[in-house]
Amino acid sequence: MKKVVVLTGAGISAESGLKTFRDSGGLWEKYDINDVATPEAWDRNQELVLEFYNARRKQAIEALPNPGHLALVELEEKYNVTIITQNIDNLHEKAGSSNVIHIHGEIMKAQSSINPEFVYPLDDWKLNIGQKCEAGYQLRPNVVWFGEPVPMMIQASEITTKADILIVIGTSLNVYPAAGLIDVAKAEIPKYLIDPQELNIIGINNLTHIKKKASKGVPQLADILLREYN
Ligand code: OAD
Repeated sequence: MKKVVVLTGAGISAESGLKTFRDSGGLWEKYDINDVATPEAWDRNQELVLEFYNARRKQAIEALPNPGHLALVELEEKYNVTIITQNIDNLHEKAGSSNVIHIHGEIMKAQSSINPEFVYPLDDWKLNIGQKCEAGYQLRPNVVWFGEPVPMMIQASEITTKADILIVIGTSLNVYPAAGLIDVAKAEIPKYLIDPQELNIIGINNLTHIKKKASKGVPQLADILLREYN
């Protein structure tokens, strides 16, 4: 089976009701990254950081996958599909995708604020001050903040290097190292970008931009790939 690697960003979940970060009305318009998404923010005001991610978790629990997520599941009929997502929501899993790598972490998990190896699943939307890891330290969201290492990048890069087809969906490609994955894929493989906006991408070979929202563009591309490539 050919290997399809899919890099997703907030845009794929937009039509499920979850806000993107940098679009007009996006999360970084309402919140300052430095107040909620850095280790320094956590040191300054844990309550505010927990509140921000509790809201994300509440919305993620309520959200349903859209046709964009679902079309990626269908691709598994004929392709070996790995999804590398920058999203902390669990909509790819809810849709039924088998291989999902969360390079920026997962909102439905908590981690120890002292030892990132202590990770715990959450089923409620609220993570509170006073909830502690087994070593007695406050739990924080299991997400990657700005300024922190991105441990899943090594695995994500290795998989992307071996891709036969690369699909990039709903990401402004502003945040590194995730955005660099598009450069890691082999030059000769077909690459597809699904995003309603023009992105400033230069020097990428064999790139087709499907300028549509994920709910339309991903099923359309999945149809083509299921018919043509096998
Ligand atoms: P952005 O908000 O930066 O970009 C969202 C992209 O989705 C834009 O290119 C939009 O044009 C596109 N978009 C909007 N609606 C869409 C739709 N219905 N279908 C398809 N595309 C659509 O979000 P990301 O690129 O995911 O990291 O942001 C990357 C990282 O920055 C996030 O993982 C997060 C954030 O800060 C951390 O918090 C570490």
